[in-house]
Amino acid sequence: MTAVRPDTLPQQAPAATAPFPTGFLWGAATAAYQVEGAAAEQGRTPSIWDTFSHTPGRVLGGDTGDVAADHFHRYRDDVALMKRLGLKAYRFSLSWSRVQPTGRGPAVERGLDFYRSLVDELLAAGIEPVATLYHWDLPQELEDAGGWPERVTAERFADYAAIAARALGDRVSLWTTLNEPWCSAFLGYGSGVHAPGRTEPAAALRAAHHLNLAHGRATEALRANLPATARTSVTLNLHQVRPLTAGAADADAARRIDAVGNRVFTGPMLRGAYPQDLLADTEHIVNWDELVRAGDLAAIAAPIDLLGVNYYTPTIVSTPADGAGDTRNDGHGSSDHSPWPGSEHVAFHLAEGLPVTAMNWSVKPDGLYDLLMDVAREHPELPMMVTENGAAFEDAPDADGRVHDPDRIAYLHGHLDAVRRAVADGADVRGYFLWSLLDNFEWGYGYAKRFGAVYVDYATQVRTPKSSAHWYADVIARHALPP
Ligand code: NOJ
Repeated sequence: MTAVRPDTLPQQAPAATAPFPTGFLWGAATAAYQVEGAAAEQGRTPSIWDTFSHTPGRVLGGDTGDVAADHFHRYRDDVALMKRLGLKAYRFSLSWSRVQPTGRGPAVERGLDFYRSLVDELLAAGIEPVATLYHWDLPQELEDAGGWPERVTAERFADYAAIAARALGDRVSLWTTLNEPWCSAFLGYGSGVHAPGRTEPAAALRAAHHLNLAHGRATEALRANLPATARTSVTLNLHQVRPLTAGAADADAARRIDAVGNRVFTGPMLRGAYPQDLLADTEHIVNWDELVRAGDLAAIAAPIDLLGVNYYTPTIVSTPADGAGDTRNDGHGSSDHSPWPGSEHVAFHLAEGLPVTAMNWSVKPDGLYDLLMDVAREHPELPMMVTENGAAFEDAPDADGRVHDPDRIAYLHGHLDAVRRAVADGADVRGYFLWSLLDNFEWGYGYAKRFGAVYVDYATQVRTPKSSAHWYADVIARHALPP
């Protein structure tokens, strides 16, 4: 039985004009905890997100990922749907707790079998699998031992990377170590709005360093266990930081947020060192000399083939004095605690005069253009991939069961045009992944926010492609934006 409504899918591809480069990869993305469900099946043990979502008050509506979009059981139908939409690539993540339940020791073959089957299904459908090793779901046992603030977690991660590479390296050729380590470190251990929900600024900075180290060690492990043709990457949510005014105080606020939001990762990963201003801004919180050991920076700077960039909204900042009245939170849920250690006294703003999504995030496609151009200027030799971009809106089926989402189409059109312009202006962008293929578990917001191009009725698990899915299928078929 298929859960897809076939009558809603597009029929024939229109003729292609090609402003996107040849080989530009069109995809959609998900993450294990957000879509898989089957939380206790086949040897999987709890991750920090299982624990967190089962803790009353942590996730809106008490939602959990126990069932999610049931992708674990429905992946065959989901791959068939991807094929009918014309997707060329699918970005998914592996659940560490499914592969190596305690976060250490031997792998569980049954857990790996799920990913082997998923990948085989994708390849048979002509869809390139893009595997992310870590999308925020640390095995709970590793958190019990201290989690990312402890150095040993980085070593465990490298072992897990080697297991995954040995199991799937014959069929997955594009790998990502971490997804948005900023969220893991600063929302997980700083503001506490994400699992494991700790609010300790020093732990957040320690976590950031150990995530960096985990990326470096895992990159090495991937290289040692993958064929030479495989490519490795990391995905960062590079905040497109802009000061609210031209004043010096706002410029300093922007510098601080750029340091603890972006350069804390790009510094060591791409330049081989932590930025001096970050070290100075945070030296009262953490002892960097003790934290960063000999050899760490060289390990973290292991060369990568591709940088994954996730972009949703710009980050406009000021000192509180400039705009305390219209500040929002930082876009990542409310918390009494700051996710910006060393830069707590910064105010965040919506972009004036622009629409917002259901997340209350400003829609500003130029931010993506600027971001891609900034990276291209700073790292001209490094190819990029937009590994996530998309929007949540209040989608609901209408009387005939269809889901019309013109706001999402406008969002995607604007942002794909920004990618196209950046490519035309010299940025080496190799692909674009829509977030998300399916409506899914949106972390602290549970199922209340729908990011999917495909609507999921959680009561029946029926999938209904929204108008945006048809629109995206058309873009893929044309290899161009519609006129
Ligand atoms: C980025 C994260 O990688 C993804 O898991 C999340 O659902 C989207 N942002 C939307 O918030």
